[in-house]
Amino acid sequence: MTTQQHLVQLLEDKGALLPEWRGAVAAVDRARFIPEVFEGGNFTEDPGHWAEAVYADAPLVTQVNDGKPVKEDGFKLSTSSSSMPSIMLEMLGLLQVGEGHRVLEIGTGTGYHAAWLCHRLGDANVTSVEIDPAVLTAASTNLQEAGYRPAAVLGDGRHGHAPNAPYDRIICTCTMRHVPQAWLEQCPDGRIVTPWGSSFFGGSFVTVDVTAGTGRGSFSGDPAFMWDRTQRAGAGRVSDYFHGEEGVKGLTDIAPQHVIQDDPAFFIGIHLTDAWYRWCEADDDSGEATLWFFADDGKSWATVEYAPGQEEYEVEQYGPRGLWDEVRSLFLRWHALGRPERSHFGLTVDQCGQQVWLDEPLNVLY
Ligand SMILES: C[S@@+](CC[C@H](N)C(=O)[O-])C[C@H]1O[C@@H](n2cnc3c(N)ncnc32)[C@H](O)[C@@H]1O
Repeated sequence: MTTQQHLVQLLEDKGALLPEWRGAVAAVDRARFIPEVFEGGNFTEDPGHWAEAVYADAPLVTQVNDGKPVKEDGFKLSTSSSSMPSIMLEMLGLLQVGEGHRVLEIGTGTGYHAAWLCHRLGDANVTSVEIDPAVLTAASTNLQEAGYRPAAVLGDGRHGHAPNAPYDRIICTCTMRHVPQAWLEQCPDGRIVTPWGSSFFGGSFVTVDVTAGTGRGSFSGDPAFMWDRTQRAGAGRVSDYFHGEEGVKGLTDIAPQHVIQDDPAFFIGIHLTDAWYRWCEADDDSGEATLWFFADDGKSWATVEYAPGQEEYEVEQYGPRGLWDEVRSLFLRWHALGRPERSHFGLTVDQCGQQVWLDEPLNVLY
C-alpha cells in the first residue's frame, strides 16, 4: 500500500522538498486529512486507489460550489481542497519561515498544511482562518486527530485575525485581488505570500516584504488556486453565458493565443480586472480554436477564431463592452513597453491601497 514515505520520496525526487520542511512533510500523514469520498471519487471500497490519490503530488478537491448541491451535469466550481504538496512547498520557500515564527494561514481547507506549520513551529505559533464553517469543522477534527491544535478560526481571512497578531508571516491559500490592509497591520515587519491576480490572470504569487507597515512585493510562480470566496472571478461553461446572440463582427491580425501567454496575460490582467477567458480547441484535428472572453457581469462576450496558417482572425463582440478591443489595446501597450516579463513588475501596498509598477516603484501602472 502506498504510504506517506512515497509522497516524501516523490517530492524529494522533484527537488521540491525543502530541508527545513522535510521533518513536517514526513511526520504529517496526508491520509488523515483526506476523506474517503471526495471529488476524485468514492474510495470507501477501494483503499488502494484512495492511498494512491492521497500520496500523489496533486491537489485533491474536497468541496465544490461551496458545498451546495450540484445539479446533474451542472458546472462544478472547486471551492476547497488539499493543495498540491509541491506548490505548498514552493509557497513556503517564498515565505522563508524561521524557527519560532508566528504564522497566519488564510484558507484552512483540509488542515493538512496547517499541520505542517504546527509540526515545525508548535501549535501556539499557528493561526488558520477559514471562511466555510463545514470546511473548518472538518479541518479542526482532522487536525485534532493528527495531534495538532492551532488556533483554527472561522472568518473572512481578508481581515486576518487580530487577537493573535502580530505575525511574522502570513500565507494565503486562495487567490486575492488585493493584499488587505489588515494583513499589513497584523504583520507589520514580516513577509506575506499569496496567490494574486484578477479575473483575467490569477496565476501568480506575490511575495510582499513588510517594513513598518508598508509592503513591497514581487511576482513569481504559476499557481492555480481557488479564489477568495468574497471576490471570485467569473467561471463556468461557455453555454452558461452564450445563448446564440449575434455580436459585431470584425478581423484582427493578432493571433489570439499570443494574448494569453503568461507575460502579456499578467499585464492585461493588471488593468482588465473584471473579465476572463477560455481557450476552446475544436474537437477535430483541424488545430482550430476559439478564444472566448466574458465580462464578470455576464453582459459582454467576445470571440476570436484561430485557424492555423492564417494572417487574420475573425472577431465577434457582443454587449456593452468591446472585450476584444480592450484586450487588444492592452496587448499593444505591453508591446510598446518592450514586452516586459512578469519579473519586472512590482507591488507597493500601504494605507492608500496597492499599486503595481514596472521596473521601479515610481513607475506606477495601476
Ligand atoms: C486551496 S484551499 C486551502 C488548502 C489548505 N491550505 C490545505 O492544505 O488543505 C482554499 C481554502 O480557502 C478558503 N477561503 C476562500 N476564501 C476565503 C476567505 N476570504 N477567508 C478564509 N478562507 C477562505 C476556501 O473555503 C478553501 O477552503
